[in-house]
Formats: sequence, structure tokens, C-alpha cells
Amino acid sequence: MITVPHEAQDWAQQIWRKIEIKMSAQCGRLGVCAPYAAINGRYTDKMTDNIYWWTNGFWPGMLWIMYHAGGEDRYLKTARAIEERLDAALAGFEGLHHDVGFMWMLASVLDWRLTSDKDARRRALHAVNLLAGRYNPRGRFIRAWNRDCTGWIIIDCMMNLSLLYWAAAESEDPRFKFIAMDHADTALKFLLREDGSCAHIAVLDPQSGTLLEIPAGQGYASGSSWTRGQAWALYGFTISYCHTGEIRYREAAARIARYFCDEIARYAYVPPVDFRAPDEPRLIDTSAGAIAACGLLALHEIDGSAGYGETALKIVQALEAAHGDWDSSTDGIIKMATAQYHGKTEERHVPLIYGDYFFLEALNRLCGRDLQIW
Ligand code: GLY
Repeated sequence: MITVPHEAQDWAQQIWRKIEIKMSAQCGRLGVCAPYAAINGRYTDKMTDNIYWWTNGFWPGMLWIMYHAGGEDRYLKTARAIEERLDAALAGFEGLHHDVGFMWMLASVLDWRLTSDKDARRRALHAVNLLAGRYNPRGRFIRAWNRDCTGWIIIDCMMNLSLLYWAAAESEDPRFKFIAMDHADTALKFLLREDGSCAHIAVLDPQSGTLLEIPAGQGYASGSSWTRGQAWALYGFTISYCHTGEIRYREAAARIARYFCDEIARYAYVPPVDFRAPDEPRLIDTSAGAIAACGLLALHEIDGSAGYGETALKIVQALEAAHGDWDSSTDGIIKMATAQYHGKTEERHVPLIYGDYFFLEALNRLCGRDLQIW
């Protein structure tokens, strides 16, 4: 558990009271669905239009955090009902991809940890077997997406490794951990750069694992620095260190953290979509800040270096001050998240469910609550 200075904890508690009001209203209004992007103050629902969508675990994740914090039964009931609806995705499975970790860590592993529900454990074990089935033993990576992306490794997938680490411990079967570590090592080799920044995607030859190409991903261009990708890398390598004790993951996380902290200070702690995009248009992605704050808090916990914790706090406070939405009649907590640099304009500068989720996770930590999530 991290030690949070008193003033920071007081601030976090004060914001938490606003969270309680907002989450109570949203739980009543959204209920059993899979919110994605809040357009004109209303979250779109992926449950009906794409049960396989990678973000479908974030809302139950938020509800489980609320349940852990306050013990309110309605959060448990709503989260469980969503988890049950996601069974259709496990049964249909062909539309699922690498992000099953995001989905079932938050929907089911949290449930299992908080309530010991055996169905939740079974669902998470089912999901991890699908994730392990994506492993390429020649290239030593978990392949991204479906269709023709047979040789694609992406930095976001570092977060899915938690499900493999959890399953290795839970089922006492180390092969899940070996797959996770192979993937982390391949990401280290092909995606992390010397200066602590990282690429989003590397295309490998799926027969041999040889590097073929580093294409542009969700950031500005090939060679640029998509901020959410940097945040996934920062948090992901920290998590890999926590589960394995391997110093190379901790060093990687520290290198990324130093780079991220230097860069974000230039933007008053509210990140652009890409640190290496042109100044205009100025596209912002608050979700990258929330994810990085969680990573920095986790790194601070293992490293003790105050700088990481201080930057995490500055980010969370800047996001809240500039982009927090505490109006209970509208959906979304943190405005100005952006799905991709070149993506759909309606997914630009709006609340996105993962931005809200990671803001809540960071705040929960700053309140001093101890909940193992990843
Ligand atoms: N697929 C994860 C992301 O868009 O950040």
C-alpha cells in the first residue's frame, strides 16, 4: 500500500465524495450495459452493438471498486449482471481478441477476489485460456487483433498479461506466466526505445519472429509517441515486475516513467494524444494521463521514489480541475479523452469509459484503499 501525504489524501477524499454522487446517479441510469463514449452527455452502449468490444469490462470494474469502497449491494448486483451478460462473448469467442485481459480481469477476477464467486473464477479461467491460445511460440508474443494481423504485437497488450499472471498463481500452472514473460520480453525488444518512449505496433514475421515493420498505430505517425501507448507500457511493465520480480521489467518501467514525467510536465499534466504530434491541432487524451497516474502510483509503491507519486498526483489533480464533470445528470467523469489521433471525430475530446475507470482507480489508491486489481 502506498503512503499518501495528508493533504493529497484529504483532496482525494473530497473528490471521492463527488465520485459517490456521480456513480450513484450513473449506476441508476446506465445499469446493466457496456458504456463506451459519452456523446452529448450520454454514454453509448457496446453491449448490444459489440459484445466483444475491448472496453466492456471497464464499467463493471468501476462498479466493483465502488462495491469494495462502500459495500453497497447494488454495485455488486449490477456488476454481476454485466459479467453474466458477457458470457455471450465467451460462448461466441470468435470476435474476441487480445484484450480479454482488460475485460475479465475487471469483470470477473475482481468479482472472485471480492466475493469468492466460483462462476467468476471459472469465467476468468475460460478467458485466460483464450488469451493463451493467441501465443505464437516462434515469435514469443501474443498476437494482436484478428483478421490478417498474424504477426502483430502491440504495447497495449502489456495490460492483458495480468490475467496470465493471475491464472498462473490461481491454477498453480506456470505456463501462463511463461507466456506473459515471453510477451513482455518481445515487447521490450521491439517496442521500447532507448529514450524511454515506445512504439505502438511491431509487425513480426509470424513464422520466425523477425521484425518486418513498425507501422503507425493510434498515435500521430510511425516513430511518434502515442501517449496512451506510453501509459500502457509504463503501467504494464510495472505490473510485470510486480508479478515476476524480474529487474529488467522494473528498469523498463522506470525508463518509461522518466520519459513520461518529463514530457507531461511540458503540457501542464494534461497529455496530448501524442507527445510527438505537431502543435496544431492540439488533440488531448485525458485517458492517457489517468492510466499513467495509476502506473506511476504502482511504481512509487515498489520504488519509493517520491517523484513518481508527486507526478501522479499532479496529473490526477490537473485532470479533475480542467476536465472533471460532476454534473449528475450527464454521463462521464473525465472529459477530453480521445480514442485515436486519426480516428473518428465523435471519439475525440469526450469522456471514454477507460479514462473514467483509470481516474477512479487512481483516486481509490490516493484515498489509501488497498485493492489489488492488476
Ligand atoms: N486498445 C487499447 C487502446 O486503444 O488504448
